[in-house]
Amino acid sequence: MTQLADLPTLSRLIRKVGLERFIEGLANTIREDFLRWPQFQKQPRIVDHSPGGVIELMPTSDGQRYAFKYVNGHPGNPARGLSTVVAFGVLADVETGYPLLLSEMTLATALRTAAVSLLAAKALARPGARRMALIGNGAQAEFQALAFHWHLGIDEIRLYDIDPHATRRLMRNLAPYPALRLLPCESTAQAVRGADIVTTITADKRRATILTPEMIEPGMHLNAVGGDCPGKTELHADILREARVVVEYEPQSRIEGEIQQMAGDFPVTELWRVLADAAPGREHAQKLTVFDSVGFALEDFSTLRYLHQQLQRHGLGRELELVPSLADPKDLFSLTHAGQPESPTPAYTGATHDDAPAASAHSTGLDPGAAPGHRDHRARRQPAARALC
Ligand SMILES: NC(=O)c1ccc[n+]([C@@H]2O[C@H](COP(=O)([O-])OP(=O)(O)OC[C@H]3O[C@@H](n4cnc5c(N)ncnc54)[C@H](O)[C@@H]3O)[C@@H](O)[C@H]2O)c1
Repeated sequence: MTQLADLPTLSRLIRKVGLERFIEGLANTIREDFLRWPQFQKQPRIVDHSPGGVIELMPTSDGQRYAFKYVNGHPGNPARGLSTVVAFGVLADVETGYPLLLSEMTLATALRTAAVSLLAAKALARPGARRMALIGNGAQAEFQALAFHWHLGIDEIRLYDIDPHATRRLMRNLAPYPALRLLPCESTAQAVRGADIVTTITADKRRATILTPEMIEPGMHLNAVGGDCPGKTELHADILREARVVVEYEPQSRIEGEIQQMAGDFPVTELWRVLADAAPGREHAQKLTVFDSVGFALEDFSTLRYLHQQLQRHGLGRELELVPSLADPKDLFSLTHAGQPESPTPAYTGATHDDAPAASAHSTGLDPGAAPGHRDHRARRQPAARALC
């Protein structure tokens, strides 16, 4: 059976685990998977661009488990009352190909993106970083703020968004965390001044320059999250020239990341190498570092893996009859009868009159508790099979 984790289930799971611990556990799981990077089958995500946005499929496998995420990015959606980013994903067993988990991933994507930003910042930001600027105060913003507050020690965040309602919502949602000082600002430049870390997480389907070189101070760490598509960036190219740039999966980031602005041989380091101590993290206090985040399939694989574990541990999620469980796996045809109105002349000539009551019970749909109708149907087929022999 496939487990279903819909949004109410994930909300319940987060309440049970606690958001702070949930982000920590998720970050640890993503880290574990980054540390076994060579085991994963990797490819840039499969994209379908349209004038208003993009729809993407993000598959990967470690040879035992396979995962993919469906995700979009439509910056114009909020004006229609819709989210910019929505997602769902599947975790499957490689040996059988059977799906184990079908999960919502809109909320899960915000959590995993914050967790990955956190992993990168832990390795790249100045030790003792306390002050962050958060540019773009939309759906992802609370998760970034809290991940950095709880797990990196950020205690002051300066906020800027072109939409003041977004900043007000963020401040309202974070009011229960008084140890985190929130300061709304009137411009990006004002928010960025004096920050140890700058997170850019804006949505605009164009080559934006949210950060320009004169805003940058030595030793800053830039967590650049919103530029994640061809033609969609947030940093001025001169900033990248000055920085040590860390990416998730280089072939994908060359297409989608801030580094799409740079020549193909522009030097970058993959995050897994930094986490595995195969490449340095922060080299010195004055160095400008950039995490050029676009979101990589492995992070969603880890998220689904973590969700699957946690749902089982906490007895949450429900079983979904998404794929057949047949006594005779070749008898897929039997499913065409379950739940169908009883035909006056059954197509299956070997059928006996004994079949009729069971079949009509299913056809009325009066027995929702007996959802796997094909199990009963299987029993009905046996006399027919004997008749044929
Ligand atoms: N890298 C990743 O892994 C990853 C994961 C999820 C989302 N994203 C990206 O992050 C971005 C934000 O996602 P979201 O779900 O929060 O979107 P959202 O639409 O909810 O929020 C985006 C916010 O950016 C603000 N904004 C737009 N232009 C701005 C500007 N010039 N200056 C300041 N603020 C500006 C908007 O007013 C809005 O409040 C999107 O671009 C999305 O594609 C990246």
